[in-house]
Amino acid sequence: MADRMIMKLKVAEARYAASNVLLLRLVHPRRPRLPAWDAGAHVDVHLPQIGVRQYSLCGDPAETGSYLIAVKLDPEGRGGSHWLHSNLAEGSELHVAAPRNHFPLAEGDGRVVLIGGGIGITPLAAMAHTLVARKGDFVFHYCAPDEATAPLLAELRELCGERLRVWLSSQGTRFDSTASLADETAAEIYACGPERLTAAVVATILAAGHAEERLHTERFTALTEADFQPQAFEAVLASSSRQLAVPADRTLLDVLEESGIVLESSCKIGVCGACECGYLAGDVIHRDVVLSPGQRKRRLMPCVSRARGHVTLDL
Ligand code: FES
Repeated sequence: MADRMIMKLKVAEARYAASNVLLLRLVHPRRPRLPAWDAGAHVDVHLPQIGVRQYSLCGDPAETGSYLIAVKLDPEGRGGSHWLHSNLAEGSELHVAAPRNHFPLAEGDGRVVLIGGGIGITPLAAMAHTLVARKGDFVFHYCAPDEATAPLLAELRELCGERLRVWLSSQGTRFDSTASLADETAAEIYACGPERLTAAVVATILAAGHAEERLHTERFTALTEADFQPQAFEAVLASSSRQLAVPADRTLLDVLEESGIVLESSCKIGVCGACECGYLAGDVIHRDVVLSPGQRKRRLMPCVSRARGHVTLDL
């Protein structure tokens, strides 16, 4: 699979959208329009000496002249946010790949519930723009410790009006997924934020017997399974019946690449969705945070996922 088009974009605006969140508006230096995208999409940003990092587009998808990303400074992170906060100002250049979307907003005019925590509100902000444009029926639960660290809060208040419910733990108001979702059995639910928030929403949906396929989540951090012991397995390529041995200490993505099958990849920790490929048979051990339960029946992320025994890949 070929790599996505990478563009050199210019920072047209750099400002703080919260005390620790840098908001960047990116434009092409010559072209008035950037590749189109839908709400929920993210871009891969290529950082010198750091690597590739993913950031959700948080502006209005109808605005085709620029991309808006919000970068939360993470002192404990892998260095990407620190580099961006330290090195970027208006006029700087960034290498950015065309948008990709693993968290799309469903079509239709049914009820939508958006639940975001902290920097996790960014893809939901784009969804709010789309829902307002559609005149959709929605509510946006925005969770943060306090207003100072809540990115885009003023913009979202103006955009959503009373449809925005703000839960600030410093003021003693906390999002209660059981109470807030009790009457939302027919809604499409989109959740993004800290793991404890997303996990609470998932648990509520499962406990209440809501249709699981109506729940859509996006996570920013890789699965942590301290006890996981990788085992060797075999991958079979459906198109040629070629068999590839995947040792316990190698990833399927690496073995495919060594065999001349180069899939697109970016994060290599199961969070970006770049390396997604199909499979036809096998007992797959899914270890990504991207695919839904339904998608997992036929798709896998070879940078982290493995199989028991063997897997037949749709390659
Ligand atoms: S490279 Fe990001 S999910 Fe595999």
